[in-house]
Amino acid sequence: MNYRHAFHAGNHADVFKHLVLARILTLLTRKEAPYAYLDSHAGVGLYDLTASQATRTGEWQQGIGRIWDAPERPALLNEYLDCIQALNTPEQLRYYPGSPELARYLSRPQDRLYLNEKHPEDGALLKENMRQDERVAVHRGEGWHLPRALLPVAEKRVLLLIDPPFEQADELTRCVQALNEAIARVRQSLVVIWYPIKAEAQLKRFYQDLGQSTAPKLLRAELWIHPTDNAERLNGSGLIISNPPWGLEEELAELLPWLATQLAQSQGGWRLDWLIEESKPQTSPNSPARKPRTSQGIKR
Ligand SMILES: C[S@@+](CC[C@H](N)C(=O)[O-])C[C@H]1O[C@@H](n2cnc3c(N)ncnc32)[C@H](O)[C@@H]1O
Repeated sequence: MNYRHAFHAGNHADVFKHLVLARILTLLTRKEAPYAYLDSHAGVGLYDLTASQATRTGEWQQGIGRIWDAPERPALLNEYLDCIQALNTPEQLRYYPGSPELARYLSRPQDRLYLNEKHPEDGALLKENMRQDERVAVHRGEGWHLPRALLPVAEKRVLLLIDPPFEQADELTRCVQALNEAIARVRQSLVVIWYPIKAEAQLKRFYQDLGQSTAPKLLRAELWIHPTDNAERLNGSGLIISNPPWGLEEELAELLPWLATQLAQSQGGWRLDWLIEESKPQTSPNSPARKPRTSQGIKR
């Protein structure tokens, strides 16, 4: 296990993932019923952007750095930015929340968080960072086992984030397996899978496998900052979302063009479409399928 998220915290992929996560959590809190938030590959939860790992790459400056400095920011960013603001002084952007801290900040007293991090040092840091919150349980085992180890939980609503480091060749396949396991245990599980986009051709099999998964509904949202044809670098990232909350698709349709414009480093872009669309009774045999939405290419 060589990957340490501290080198990448706050980069373009983190901003995209965390902003969408913040929207999902915000939409979930519109109903009183509690939810369980599960994070199979949680990282340490909180990052210091002035520490040596973050300064060595400086990736955050092209991610949250750009968003923080943007003159006008859509209101849909409010909850995400509130969380960051609560960690920092007005003078300096120093601390950046990982997915566990963001989920902790946006959750209510009735919600529960189940976090898992396998790296020995990062697992210990995560435990330390979360120690004062009784709603949080930290596990330090195998992330791929989380759905079968924990589901079903007492809470009827489940949000599972699967965010592995992609150090191993089989991790896309394992994401689909974990999705299917979660759906088999709790049919309405809201599962979010993050994946890197280098060359789009590398993802063909992943998309096919997802299309054949047992999820009732699967939304795909992607954001790239360079053209997606270079297997040597991280050009963008994607999120697969099963059973997205009502309203999320429209919110992402508003957010993605803005984000792509802010974060593009050469030719950026975005895509939003359904890999599995809910089967509806057909009103007319000629009623058109919902069209995928995508950018025409955004230059910076
Ligand atoms: C991309 S980072 C997670 C970032 C975090 N979800 C966030 O958004 O702030 C992936 C994490 O998975 C951990 N990890 C790697 N292999 C794992 C495994 N098999 N089970 C659980 N965690 C693992 C790594 O140590 C790393 O902290």
